[in-house]
Amino acid sequence: MQERSLRDLQVSAIGLGCMGMSAFYGTTDQDEGIATIRRALDIGVTFLDTAQLYGPLTNESLVGEAIRGHRDEYVIATKFNYRMDDAVPGDMSSIGRQDGSAEHVRGSVHGSLERLGTDHIDLYYQHRVDPNVPIEETVGALGELVAEGKVRHIGLSEASAETIRRAHAVHPVTAVQSEYSLWTRDVEAEVLPACRELGIGFVPYSPLGRGFLAGRFSSPDELDENDFRRANPRFTEANLEANLRLAAKVKEIAAEKDVTPAQLAIAWVLAQGEDLVPIPGTKRRAYLEQNAAAVDIELTKEDLARIDAELPQAAGERYDEAGMRSVNR
Ligand SMILES: NC(=O)c1ccc[n+]([C@@H]2O[C@H](COP(=O)([O-])OP(=O)(O)OC[C@H]3O[C@@H](n4cnc5c(N)ncnc54)[C@H](OP(=O)(O)O)[C@@H]3O)[C@@H](O)[C@H]2O)c1
Repeated sequence: MQERSLRDLQVSAIGLGCMGMSAFYGTTDQDEGIATIRRALDIGVTFLDTAQLYGPLTNESLVGEAIRGHRDEYVIATKFNYRMDDAVPGDMSSIGRQDGSAEHVRGSVHGSLERLGTDHIDLYYQHRVDPNVPIEETVGALGELVAEGKVRHIGLSEASAETIRRAHAVHPVTAVQSEYSLWTRDVEAEVLPACRELGIGFVPYSPLGRGFLAGRFSSPDELDENDFRRANPRFTEANLEANLRLAAKVKEIAAEKDVTPAQLAIAWVLAQGEDLVPIPGTKRRAYLEQNAAAVDIELTKEDLARIDAELPQAAGERYDEAGMRSVNR
């Protein structure tokens, strides 16, 4: 697998999003999740993405178990945000409030280190910007963790361009993570240009549109009862029809290039710049292998222009109202 740089952090050009192995996307299979993370190492996909929120806590533990004995062959990114003092692993109702305070940043890292079975995190992100705490305080505390060697690099997720600039003035930010894909291009307006100006790497999450662009779904009824996407505006009635037409177009263009829709979606993100490292999520080895192969797909200027001309943006917001309030715009 080729490598790319997120500022001063070398990672595989395609990462692996581990979230769905433990949370949000219906039924999980711990053994297949672990096998997927181990298989990722065999094929050179060594950049893993997890978070305290996923489970909560269980996804970090799963990653920790999967990488045991091979820690240094992976680059591990995780995220803090909510207080987890009383969190019960696997029980989303047990998480505490959002907290970007220095005290929480310093304390939160210990649990992640323990669950991941490591003495350092390669990339530690704030999962959502806390509107009640100045970003300077949060990032100042993250910088202390770097000085102590507990964290190698710091990142922000779903931060606005202004927040990114303020944060970077306190301590170098290695990567910003936000949703970015064929059907979600909002970051092109301000966030991506700010990252480029400051030399910050960009990690597009949900590059497959949470599976929709991969052609996985034709109705929310195909999703498990506990699947968060059942209530996602893009998967629900009013927007579903338009989004299905969009997914059909992705399928058509992919077929012409003799690749799968998921591979086309990943290749498109890779083609947006060398400073981008997508983290497609999957629970299973078969998709991991298929997605990793997208690194070798070349999209020509004509392909990219056609995609721009023929693929509309998704119908519907990417989160419900509460979710949209949590993103720093
Ligand atoms: N910072 C944030 O706030 C944030 C938010 C969301 C996600 N993330 C991170 O980003 C990662 C990726 O995002 P995501 O998982 O939400 O969405 P995604 O990567 O866009 O899509 C994942 C979905 O696509 C399916 N899939 C994967 N490869 C496929 C293939 N080749 N063919 C058909 N279907 C395929 C998966 O199925 P299976 O599950 O059945 O394998 C899953 O349902 C997450 O794992 C997480 O680490 C971060």
